[in-house]
Amino acid sequence: MTAPRTIGIMTGGGDAPGLNAVIRVVVKRGVTNLGWRVLGIEHSFDGLFADPPGVKALGRDDVRGILRRGGTILGTTNRGDPFAFEGEDGVVRDVSAETVARLQGLGCEGLIGIGGDGTQSICARLSERHGLKVVGVPKTIDNDILATDATFGFDSAVAYATDAVDRLHSTAEAHDRVMVVEVMGRHAGWIALEAGVAGGADIVLIPEIPFRMEPVIAKVLRRRIRRRGFSIIVVAEGAVPAGGQIFEQKVSGGSAVKLGGAGRFVSEEIARRTGLDTRYTVLGHLLRGGTPSHADRILATRFGNHAVDLVLENRWGRMVAMQQGRITDVPIADVARGFRTIDPGADLVRAARGVGIVFGDENEDGAPP
Ligand code: F6P
Repeated sequence: MTAPRTIGIMTGGGDAPGLNAVIRVVVKRGVTNLGWRVLGIEHSFDGLFADPPGVKALGRDDVRGILRRGGTILGTTNRGDPFAFEGEDGVVRDVSAETVARLQGLGCEGLIGIGGDGTQSICARLSERHGLKVVGVPKTIDNDILATDATFGFDSAVAYATDAVDRLHSTAEAHDRVMVVEVMGRHAGWIALEAGVAGGADIVLIPEIPFRMEPVIAKVLRRRIRRRGFSIIVVAEGAVPAGGQIFEQKVSGGSAVKLGGAGRFVSEEIARRTGLDTRYTVLGHLLRGGTPSHADRILATRFGNHAVDLVLENRWGRMVAMQQGRITDVPIADVARGFRTIDPGADLVRAARGVGIVFGDENEDGAPP
């Protein structure tokens, strides 16, 4: 009797709603239907180095009821880079060769790596330098991974952000206030743009269109003249003032550079320059938590199922992707080429301008460039 195929699976980087749906389909199809052993590596690659090891053979019971759960049953970390691994002693070492050796020691033929651009790049390098067989599954709420038109987690984040904009509308209207809401998205404005358009915001500030305060203030004041006392402004955390700097926050732990502060800046500038009653809200990690939307559950299930196909066909070194509405795959190394950002001339940006949304690059009469 031959030994069953053994495949590792891990989640890396920030969590995104839908991660558990990927794990579920890999286990249900891999273990139950195909007879594989699927080993869950906990907290990115950290589980390989933990004592006792954070490695678990996953079975049907482990994935029961997880489809609707946010987070990841495997745990994750964005400090799990084996090429720069921080040990208990605080010293950073390259443990990439040891990572692959430990996976092989566990009998893993290959690895399904579920993560954002960071995790995909790490998997690509483990494959190039140490011959690890990998299949990548992209995730991020930011929707900014190259080579795929969609990532799961984004739909849930936009739904939450849209609901927040809806809620801010009623309280803003009641008080005639300017309400600023800052959303995540790193160097891409997808969450801000989609939630801003869906929520009927008046102003949307995104990294792809550097903003000036003058058109923002002019829009707020125009609305007051028209007896609409309130304004709703959605600000991406990566939004940048024209000729200025991106807003960074100092935090302990987590990713090296944490964005944040753009919403507060815009809010304080409006209050300072107009004297209007202005408040700001930061949605932050609320966008990542909670139950995945139905669309994210489906996308994640389709992605995970394609990852199983790739393993079955021995097509290693590929990342699952969505292109033109179809599930496909691309070389995993392609991800490291950059980010997928919004084209300022895209039809959604033009539609937003069509309904009067200001991006901060207009002239003071609100005319687009
Ligand atoms: O990439 C996902 C994301 O949520 C970004 O939108 C955000 O800038 C970052 O992660 C936050 O990272 P952390 O969880 O380390 O604070």
